[in-house]
Amino acid sequence: MKTEQFIIPDIKNLEKFAENFLNIISLPAIVLLSGSLGAGKTAFVKAIGRALNIKETITSPSFNIMNSYDFLYDAQKSKLLHYDLYRLSEDDDVSDIDIFEAAEDKNFLAFIEWPQKAERLWENENIKVYSLSFEVDFSSHKEDENISELPRKITMKEIKN
Ligand SMILES: Nc1ncnc2c1ncn2[C@@H]1O[C@H](COP(=O)(O)OP(=O)(O)OP(=O)(O)O)[C@@H](O)[C@H]1O
Ligand SMILES: [Mg+2]
Repeated sequence: MKTEQFIIPDIKNLEKFAENFLNIISLPAIVLLSGSLGAGKTAFVKAIGRALNIKETITSPSFNIMNSYDFLYDAQKSKLLHYDLYRLSEDDDVSDIDIFEAAEDKNFLAFIEWPQKAERLWENENIKVYSLSFEVDFSSHKEDENISELPRKITMKEIKN
């Protein structure tokens, strides 16, 4: 399937990328976000929240695993589900994570940080899955520089249709 790459020169340009991404995809969909700690996965979901006019502040779901937000999509009540599976261990039962149940039968857009831990949750579901992989070269980071000023490379793939 098609793979595309984008360079986001700084955090300000993330807004535009989020808007474009929303124009490319259709709901319901699962979006897998991969990339190292600090690569920009949560920042991207925050930008999506702004693009969808979600007024609540989107925060990292690292402690509660999932945060859910309501928004309107084509005038339909929809859910943005934001997962961070980083803290799950090999022995945790991922079958407790039920995206479809969390969506409460509404149209949804689910973002999953650290998705490696739960791949089988959606492999047999009839749903579109996209993958966004975030790369940042922290080695080019100078001491007086903020990491928000480092460019990010984002590789987008449609992995399941
Ligand atoms: N596209 C970007 N351009 C520049 N800076 C960015 C970009 N995306 C994120 N950042 C900055 O990088 C820092 C870390 O980003 P973020 O919290 O989104 O990482 P993460 O990938 O979610 O990490 P984790 O795996 O720890 O959850 C933030 O301070 C953010 O401002
Ligand atoms: Mg994060």
